[in-house]
Amino acid sequence: MEERGVELELEPEEEPTTDSEVFYNEDMIVNRDISVASLAEYQERSGEELKVCDALSASGVRGLRYLNEVDGLEEVLINDIKPEAVENIQKNLELNGLGERAAVTQKDANLLLTENFRSLDYVDIDPFGSPTLYLDSTARSLRHESAAGFTATDLGPLYGSYPKVCERRYSSRPLKVEFGHELGIRILIKETFRAFSRYDRAFEPVLAWHEQHYSRVFGTVEESKKQCNRMLDDIGYLSFCRECRWRAYEDVEQCSACGGTVEKAGPLWTGKLADDEFAGGVRERLDSQGYTEAEQLIEKLQKEADISTPFYESHEIASSIGVQAPERKKLLEAVRERGFRASQTHFSPQGFRTDAPIEEIREAIETTAI
Ligand SMILES: C[S@@+](CC[C@H](N)C(=O)[O-])C[C@H]1O[C@@H](n2cnc3c(N)ncnc32)[C@H](O)[C@@H]1O
Repeated sequence: MEERGVELELEPEEEPTTDSEVFYNEDMIVNRDISVASLAEYQERSGEELKVCDALSASGVRGLRYLNEVDGLEEVLINDIKPEAVENIQKNLELNGLGERAAVTQKDANLLLTENFRSLDYVDIDPFGSPTLYLDSTARSLRHESAAGFTATDLGPLYGSYPKVCERRYSSRPLKVEFGHELGIRILIKETFRAFSRYDRAFEPVLAWHEQHYSRVFGTVEESKKQCNRMLDDIGYLSFCRECRWRAYEDVEQCSACGGTVEKAGPLWTGKLADDEFAGGVRERLDSQGYTEAEQLIEKLQKEADISTPFYESHEIASSIGVQAPERKKLLEAVRERGFRASQTHFSPQGFRTDAPIEEIREAIETTAI
C-alpha cells in the first residue's frame, strides 16, 4: 500500500477496527494531510529543529509522513503499545529508508510522554476514541513553546448522544442539536485548554475541524500565566432555544429572542476555530501538494473562522417558520444585504454561519424561501 509517497507493508482492510492487527484507515487521509501541513507550517514559523512524537502510531504512517514531508525535524519518536504495530513501523521505516531520524518504541503513550518531560516540540495524539487520557502527559512533555494535535473519535459523547459520558470524560455538558458537532469540538478544545493551563501553558487552537467520524484540533502552546488568564475569557456556556433556534454564548434561563426556555451546553471554547494566517499558510501548502480535499476543507474553515456563533441549518429554521428552505447562495446574499457577515461552514453542506440575530435570519429565510 502507499499513502502520499510513503510505502506501507500492510494488508488493505475493508473496515479497520480496534481489533485490526495493525490499524490503518485510509479514510483518515485528510486528517493526516492537514496534520502534515500544520506541522510544516508550525516548523517554518518556529524556525527551530523540532523533536516530534507520534505517540499512538499503529502502522507508523503519520510519523513516516512527518519524516518524509516536513523539513526541519531533528527526531520523530514513533510509538505504539502493540508489538505487531511496532514490528510494522520498523518494516515501514526500512521500506522507505526513513529510519535515520526515527526512534521507535513499544510503550504506553503516557509513560513515553512522562519520560520525555519538557523535551518535545510537537506531540500528536490520534487514539481510538477520546484523547483525554493523554492530555496531562502531553502538557508535561512539551517545551515552553511548542504545539500539539489531538483527534477525538468518541463522537457519541461529544455530540450529545451520551451526555453522561461526555460529562465524565470532558467535564462538560454537550447538546444533541443540529450543530452538536461544533459544540463537541468546542468541548474538546476547552478540556485541552484546561489540562494545559494547570501547568500554566496556554493551548491556543489554530485549526480545529470536523470531518466524517472525527474531530481534530491543532494548537500552539506557550508557557504563560498571563496568556492562560486572558484565554479564560473564551471559556463559557452556550444557551439554545429549540423553539426559534436562537443560540448565544450566554448563561441565561430564557431565550432572548422569543422568551422560551433554553437548554445549555458547556463549559466550552467560545473563541475562534482557526487562526486566519495559520490557516492561510496550511492552505497554501495543501494546494501546492495537490491535496485538494483537505485544501477545500481549510478554505471553508478559514472563511468561517471570524464568526464564532455556532452555525445554522437553514431547513431547521425554515421548518420552524413553516416554509421551504431557500437556496443557500440566495440566503447568504440576503443576510449580507441586511448588513451582516455570512459564510458557508465546513461542518455541513446546507449549513451557514452568520453574526446576524435570529430575527434577521428568519426574515431573510422568509423572503428567499422557495
Ligand atoms: C487510531 S490508532 C492510530 C492511528 C494512526 N495514528 C494513524 O494515523 O493511522 C490508535 C493506536 O493506538 C494504540 N494504542 C492504544 N492504547 C495505547 C497506549 N496506551 N499507548 C500507546 N499506544 C496505544 C493502538 O494499538 C493503535 O495502534
